Amino acid sequence: MSEKIHKVPDDFATLAHLRQADYQRLYQESIRDPNGFWARIGRRLDWIQPYTKIKDTSFDEHDFRIRWFYDGKLNVAANCLDRHLLKRGDKTAIIWEGDDPRLSEHISYRQLHERVCQCANALKSLGVGPGDRVTIYLPMIPEAAVAMLACARIGAVHSVVFGGFSADSLAGRIADCGSSVVITADEGLRGGRRIALKENVDEALKASGTQCVKHVLVTRRLGSNVSMQKGRDRWFEDLLQGQSKECPAAAMDAESPLFILYTSGSTGQPKGVLHTSGGYLVFVAMTHELVFDLREDDIFWCTADVGWVTGHSYVLYGPLANGATTVMFEGVPSYPDAGRFWQIVDKHAVTLFYTAPTAIRALMREGEEPVKQWSRRSLRLLGSVGEPINPEAWEWYHRVVGDGRCPVVDTWWQTETGGILISPLPGAIDQKPGSATLPFFGVQPAIVDNEGNMLDGVAEGNLVLIDSWPGQMRTVFGDHARFVETYFRTFPGKYFTGDGAKRDADGYYWITGRVDDVLNVAGHRLGTAEIESALVAHPKVAEAAVVGCPHDVKGQGIYVYVTLNLGETPSEELRTELRNRVRQEIGAIATPDFIQWAPSLPKTRSGKIMRRILRKIAANEHDQLGDISTLADPGVVDSLIRERLNGSD
Ligand code: PRX
Repeated sequence: MSEKIHKVPDDFATLAHLRQADYQRLYQESIRDPNGFWARIGRRLDWIQPYTKIKDTSFDEHDFRIRWFYDGKLNVAANCLDRHLLKRGDKTAIIWEGDDPRLSEHISYRQLHERVCQCANALKSLGVGPGDRVTIYLPMIPEAAVAMLACARIGAVHSVVFGGFSADSLAGRIADCGSSVVITADEGLRGGRRIALKENVDEALKASGTQCVKHVLVTRRLGSNVSMQKGRDRWFEDLLQGQSKECPAAAMDAESPLFILYTSGSTGQPKGVLHTSGGYLVFVAMTHELVFDLREDDIFWCTADVGWVTGHSYVLYGPLANGATTVMFEGVPSYPDAGRFWQIVDKHAVTLFYTAPTAIRALMREGEEPVKQWSRRSLRLLGSVGEPINPEAWEWYHRVVGDGRCPVVDTWWQTETGGILISPLPGAIDQKPGSATLPFFGVQPAIVDNEGNMLDGVAEGNLVLIDSWPGQMRTVFGDHARFVETYFRTFPGKYFTGDGAKRDADGYYWITGRVDDVLNVAGHRLGTAEIESALVAHPKVAEAAVVGCPHDVKGQGIYVYVTLNLGETPSEELRTELRNRVRQEIGAIATPDFIQWAPSLPKTRSGKIMRRILRKIAANEHDQLGDISTLADPGVVDSLIRERLNGSD
C-alpha cells in the first residue's frame, strides 16, 4: 500500500458539488434512512408515475428480494433525451470520434432523439415489444447508442455483445436470452483493422439455439460487400428512413428489465446479468454527477466500449441522464500513434477523462513524449476503472497526464453493481494512489474472513456488501437460482463481490483483485472455466487448467497448463492451434499468453485441481507454494516447476 496522500486541491474543492463535511453527513444519512435519502435522489429523474415505495430488499436466501422505487413508472430513454430537449435541444449529446482521426461527428440531443425515435419505430415495425430481447453487436458508433436507447424507449431489453467476441460467443449469448432481432454493422474498424461483424453474425446464426432470431439489421459502417439473407437481413438505414421521428416513450415499471449484459463468473459459461430501469438510472446518474463532479459545460470521455458495463453506465446512460456531452471513441489508444488519447482530449476539449489502468500502463511504456505533445489544458479530472491500479501507474497518470493538477478517482465496481460503489468524491475525499478509498452513498462494504466473520478496523479478507443499493443487478437472466447461489450463498445474507480487499486505518479500501477463478485481463473479465472448456474441446487435450499470471501491461496474463492425451506429443504447431481455438471460441481477448505442457496437474486426493499452486508456479514464486502435503502426488509440482524454469513457452 502506498503511504502517499494526495489532498483534495483547494481550488477543486471550492467549486465541487460536495466537500468533506458533505460526504460524511450524506453518507450517514444514506445509511440511517435509505428510504428518505433515495426518495429525494430519485426525484432527479422524470417519473411518469411517481413512486411512493422506495426500498424493499433482503439478501436472506429465504426471503430474498431486491426492489427499488417499485411502484413508480418511467421511461429510461425519455429521461436520457426528451426531458433535455427544452433546455438542451441543441447541446451536443454525443461527440463521435472515428478510428480515423479525420472523422468525427457532433450529435445534438434533438438529433439523437429523432434517430432514437426512428429506430424505436423501426423495431416496432418488426414486432418488437416490451420485454423482447434485442442483441446489439456493433462497433463504437452512434448507432450503438441509438439502438440501445430505442430498445429502452419501447421497453425492449438490449443485450450488447462486445464486437471483439467471436461468432461462437455471440451465438451463446443470442441463444441464452432468445433475441428476436440482432443489430450489427457490415464491418467494424479498430486501429485500422477491419472486424467482420456481419460475417460473425451469419456464422453465429448457424449455431443451434439461435433460431429465435427473425431479423438482422445491418448498419453500413464501411460500405463493405456483405451477404444479405433475404427475408432476414435488412439495412438499418433503409429501415429507419421512412420512420416517423416521433415515438411515444413506453411507461415502464421501475423494476422492468432494461438490459442484459453477459459476464464471466468462476464457473460455467458467462451469465446474463440483468439490470432494471428505475434504480439503475437513478444510481448511474447520481454517481456520474458526483464522482466526476459534473458541470453543465463538461465534455466527458469514458474510453470504454459499450460492450462492457462501463460503456453502458458511463458512456451512455449516466451522462445522457445528466444531459451531459459524452465522447464515444471508435478506436484504440495506440492508433495512429501513442498520442491519440491526448490528441482527442485537445480536439474536443475534454474535461473529464475516464479510462482503465491497462491503457495507462501501456501508454506509460511509450514515455512522456506522446503525452507532452498535446496541451491537455482542458482536463480537470481523471478516472480509473476496471482493475487495481498500481501506485506507479496512478502517479504517472496524475503527474504526466494531469500535470499534477487533476484529482484522480479510482472507481471500484462491477457489471453486477451497475455503477460505481467505492471511489473518492473528488472535492471531498483525499486520494491515496492504489486505493479506491471510501464507499459511495448507500453502499455498505465490509470485509469478512473465509468463515464469514466480519472483520473490524484494519483488516484484509473478502469484500462483501451488506445491503442493497439501487443499481444492483436483479437476477441472472433465466436462472434466478444461479444468481442467489453465486452471490449470496458463500457468505449468507451478504453480497459477495468475488474480490479481496484491505481496509486501512483511515477506513480506506484497497481492492487486491479477484479471489475466485475469474481473470481480469487488460480490464476484461474472463472466466478460467470458459477458457478451459475451449481447450479441452480439442481432440488432443486431456485436461487444461487456466490461471492468471502477473503481466506488466495487462495486469493479468492468461497462463495455461495443458495435459495432452496419451500418445500425443507437444509441438509449436499444437500450441498455435490451441491459441487459435480459444480465439475462435471466445475472442482475441482470451488468447493465452503462455501455454505450458503439463504431464499431469496437481490435484487433491478428491481430484480437485490445486490452482493456488499453479498460480504460484506461473508467477515464478516457487518458494511460496505453501502446504502441498494434501496433494495426491506431490511429485507433480517439481516437474511443473522444472518445466517452468526451462522456459516451456
Ligand atoms: O476485480 C474487480 C475489478 O473488476 C471486476 C469487475 O469486472 P467487470 O464486471 O468487468 O467490471 C469492470 C468495470 C466496472 C471487479 O470485481 N475492478 C473493477 N474496478 C476496479 C477493480 N479492481 C480494483 N480497482 C478498481 N477500481
